[in-house]
Amino acid sequence: MRRIAILTAGGDTPALNATIYGAVARANQLKIEVYGIIKGFSGMLNPTVPHVHLNPLFSSIPELNPCMGGTILGASRDYIDPDQKDVLKQVAYRLQRLGIDGLICIGGDGTINGMQPLAQFFPCVLAPKTIDNDLGLNYLDEPNEWIREPSENGGSWNYRKQGERPDIELDDIINYATPGYATAVYVAAGGIDRIRTTAESHRRIAIIEVMGRQSGYIALGSAYGQPDIILIPEIRMNFERLEKRVRELYELQKNVVIVVGEGVRDENGTELGAISASHDPAGNVIFSGAAEQLADMLSKSFGDRYFLDKRRHDKAKSAIFTRKVGHTQRGGRPIQFDRFYAAQLGGKAVELLVQGYNNSIATLQWSENGGFKLDSILANTLRDPYQNIRPREVHPSFYDANRFQPSKLGVEYLMKIFTNAIGYDDVESIRTSQFHPGNLTNRYQGFNIAMHKRIERLAGEGDENLLSGATG
Ligand code: F6P
Repeated sequence: MRRIAILTAGGDTPALNATIYGAVARANQLKIEVYGIIKGFSGMLNPTVPHVHLNPLFSSIPELNPCMGGTILGASRDYIDPDQKDVLKQVAYRLQRLGIDGLICIGGDGTINGMQPLAQFFPCVLAPKTIDNDLGLNYLDEPNEWIREPSENGGSWNYRKQGERPDIELDDIINYATPGYATAVYVAAGGIDRIRTTAESHRRIAIIEVMGRQSGYIALGSAYGQPDIILIPEIRMNFERLEKRVRELYELQKNVVIVVGEGVRDENGTELGAISASHDPAGNVIFSGAAEQLADMLSKSFGDRYFLDKRRHDKAKSAIFTRKVGHTQRGGRPIQFDRFYAAQLGGKAVELLVQGYNNSIATLQWSENGGFKLDSILANTLRDPYQNIRPREVHPSFYDANRFQPSKLGVEYLMKIFTNAIGYDDVESIRTSQFHPGNLTNRYQGFNIAMHKRIERLAGEGDENLLSGATG
């Protein structure tokens, strides 16, 4: 393998540059050239394939800083449609003209779907990333538990799981944690911690919405910020029980902090917030408004009178407030756990290509005896019998629905990731950079301007001369 390409697809995470860094560092050792494709799959859909040589003379370009959030390559949610055979051939032809022998895609479930059709032209591997921590399995056979039945309206299918295991061991988990998750939890837990003191001072009920789509891992991890109540999408919300608990806590401590995962559902299984379609091929949807909806429900059931009588607030609406942690979860400097394992997974992805793997995923495993170690799985291992990749959900045994908190096993799960997740350098970085006087006078120096000057493009013959046998 002489030259490989790498791209970052889907939503960004704080650890993408760290993954690219690890891949390039390993490629340098193996004397492999690495071309970074600009803006994910959309860079390959562009006939000129804008790209950057990331390791001239087998040393990494200085812009590649593993401590910096975002991605120097840019990201997009554009994917290649596997049914558009001509487009696929064009992409394969373009990469062949660039002399690419293998491709590393850094991404999540949508990226696997985007990558798979390309795996028939040249070896492709995935280095995982997602703040949602939903790329993986609770145990090996989990996808095979999905069954489908014709829907009552006809025309489409209803999917459901049958025979889910009630208990799991932490060693069973495939891909224990994805780069980006730890930093997202770090940000979310910090936000919760800060909102608590203002809720406490002003006798308010705070509802904080965290990201994660259908997966409640960020909400679960936000337990580090000590919210009173955590609601995860995997466990349907029983409003009556929730309201009772909020009342008890408010009577006791005059404030309540509730965390909701954005995909949280009511007792009928309906998402609390509005959902709309995204155009990513994993079928991901966009959630918004779960916290708002819950605030409305609580305001109605408490009523203004409750807060007035206690001389705390005029209206329920001013006593109960919502905040979204939002995209701050996805941005900024990755903490040590993310940086370290993202870089390791990037290096592992290069090794997989060199060892001849195709359509495979580098994974991070945990075991009681060995702690964390790298491994890999075939991408199809994640697919159900109907070829869908499902987001990994928080296993029910990780959550105590009576206390609205992580269960004992959930706590154990989190501790493996977070107990030493923050490095000394993370702390030092806050100390030295947060209030650096230069921040006041120097304009933000990002990577886009410098990277733009490095972009090269494929010129010359066009796609019309498609190579014969590219489908080979
Ligand atoms: O999948 C990552 C994620 O951050 C989700 O947690 C969130 O729902 C979604 O992406 C937001 O996407 P966008 O930034 O495109 O609005």
